[in-house]
Amino acid sequence: MVALASPIETSLETGARIGVQNVSHWFKQQTGGVLQVLDDISIDVKPGEFVALLGPSGCGKSTLLRLVAGLEPATAGTITQDGAPITRPDPSRIVVFQDPTLFPWRSVWDNVALGLQARGLLKSQRSRVDDALRLVGLTEFAKSFPHQLSGGMAQRVALARALVNDPQLLVLDEPLGKLDSLTRIAMQSELVNLWQRAGFSALLVTHDVEEALFLANRVIILSDRPARITAELVVDLPYPRHRGHPRLAELRHEALRHLGLDATW
Ligand SMILES: Nc1ncnc2c1ncn2[C@@H]1O[C@H](COP(=O)(O)OP(=O)(O)O)[C@@H](O)[C@H]1O
Ligand SMILES: [Mg+2]
Repeated sequence: MVALASPIETSLETGARIGVQNVSHWFKQQTGGVLQVLDDISIDVKPGEFVALLGPSGCGKSTLLRLVAGLEPATAGTITQDGAPITRPDPSRIVVFQDPTLFPWRSVWDNVALGLQARGLLKSQRSRVDDALRLVGLTEFAKSFPHQLSGGMAQRVALARALVNDPQLLVLDEPLGKLDSLTRIAMQSELVNLWQRAGFSALLVTHDVEEALFLANRVIILSDRPARITAELVVDLPYPRHRGHPRLAELRHEALRHLGLDATW
């Protein structure tokens, strides 16, 4: 089965095109009222594009990601992948959360193998687990267990577990939010490498302005709840980026202004 070997390493396929059109969302509350969380959001993620969503805590970012992942239907509007409506979760769209949620009783290798195992593909595609571990630099820790890993390593396992499925869209919900700042900076660079090599589209939620600007082609800024799009910044810099680039400082200033934070920086 040579044809199936290591699609992760060699994938030239572009990522998914995601269309979010006029999406609004409400939650029913215990009190009988409704809480509007999203207000007429439209976003077009192009194949292979990296889009970051930046917005205040509680504005509805995770909700939007859940809708794109297909975990629940939007109250209004449509969400499509390559033109087809998203109605349920699918292995072509993988979500990575802030907490890596590894199974403590499974080794690193077995955690990464989960998706292939669930789809009955593990026997024929074992080498993909090794490829994914190599991509995130954890080959030597394949036999370790989650409690033996640092926070950054655990999050790399979660990324490998996502990448082994060869996703067309990687949905990232503050994936680096709990890491210390040095690990976080290192992981941001790794994420850029992985994205450039694998070619998936990415939709990242973060409340870290620098992170959004360092990673994304486009940064979409959301208002307080219900989230509306208040601005869109195109990060017109090639990869890999240099954190000290004056253009990033300008864009940071602009992003903070749109977030309503007076630029005393
Ligand atoms: N399943 C749910 N039922 C009711 N309210 C919810 C639910 N999920 C989220 N919310 C509410 O929706 C708002 C937005 O939540 P969330 O999307 O998690 O925000 P963010 O990720 O931007 O911090 C919050 O006020 C939250 O309490
Ligand atoms: Mg959230």
